[in-house]
Amino acid sequence: MPSERAKATIAVAGAGTMGTGIAIVAARGGAQTIVFDVDGQRAQVALRDMRRFLERSAELGRMTREQAEAACARARATSRLEDLAGADLVIEAAFEDFKVKAGLLRSLDDVLRPEAIVASNTSTLSITQLAGASKRPQQVVGMHFCLPAQLMKLVELTPGLLTSAETLAAAEAHCIALGQIPIRTKDTPGFILNHFVIPLNNDAIRLVERGVAAPADIDRGVRTALGYPLGPLQLVDLVGLDTQLRLCEAFHEVTRDPRHVCPHLVRQMVAAGHLGKKSGQGFYRYESTGTFGA
Ligand SMILES: NC(=O)c1ccc[n+]([C@@H]2O[C@H](COP(=O)([O-])OP(=O)(O)OC[C@H]3O[C@@H](n4cnc5c(N)ncnc54)[C@H](O)[C@@H]3O)[C@@H](O)[C@H]2O)c1
Repeated sequence: MPSERAKATIAVAGAGTMGTGIAIVAARGGAQTIVFDVDGQRAQVALRDMRRFLERSAELGRMTREQAEAACARARATSRLEDLAGADLVIEAAFEDFKVKAGLLRSLDDVLRPEAIVASNTSTLSITQLAGASKRPQQVVGMHFCLPAQLMKLVELTPGLLTSAETLAAAEAHCIALGQIPIRTKDTPGFILNHFVIPLNNDAIRLVERGVAAPADIDRGVRTALGYPLGPLQLVDLVGLDTQLRLCEAFHEVTRDPRHVCPHLVRQMVAAGHLGKKSGQGFYRYESTGTFGA
């Protein structure tokens, strides 16, 4: 049964790949869920993808049909920021761009209740700097979900310099109530997981670049020998080659670590429109596009 905190109202701001997955986690976990995007059509597509994912989960026996229907009924979509006024927690998953996120945080100050918490799903930006854009930096926290959020349990929780202990504890309680597994990290670029994942992905891409092995063999090797659920090239296709490029660039900008330099092959694939699963072609070819098959 969802706990009291899961009955909270959670808004997800930015209804792209991550926002849609996070909204599934929230609605499935028992929260009243508002999916907000500046692009109203994007918000509606996210709601449709959420419904499809939940229905498919029921078909696969991962939840009952009643549970899926109840989760769908808890979710709504909007492009009006005022509709977030009653949220207890807003998880922003807008573009990885400081100006965009800072602008969103500033606008949220005008509509949210004083006690509401704002979490950022940023992968590379400083939570302390983002919180500086808000009038209530003590109620801003990092909440970094892993892709695909609707299937991955881990959430990296990051306090900024001014985040209060109460906000961090509340964010942790929200994660647990939704069935997620939180770990705490300092406010440092890439937090914990990307320090492993980005170099691994880049190494795998460079093996393809050098013609050492086919993507399927590299992925099979990593899955079989290291026990990962997805191979690195499958993961990059799911993340999107364009997102991988932006992520590497942003990460390298702050770390200057050569392992974070984006391989040339990724730039070529992006230029050719081979963006991974969302475009139907990446390291693999896909019959159906989109990232929300259960
Ligand atoms: N894709 C990944 O693998 C991954 C993993 C973990 C974290 N993240 C982080 O999650 C965030 C979102 O990434 P994504 O891949 O879902 O991006 P995306 O491009 O798929 O979606 C971003 C969405 O934000 C919306 N948006 C832009 N400005 C907005 C605003 N002011 N208010 C509300 N919505 C706005 C866009 O319309 C778009 O729908 C980024 O911070 C990214 O670093 C991404």
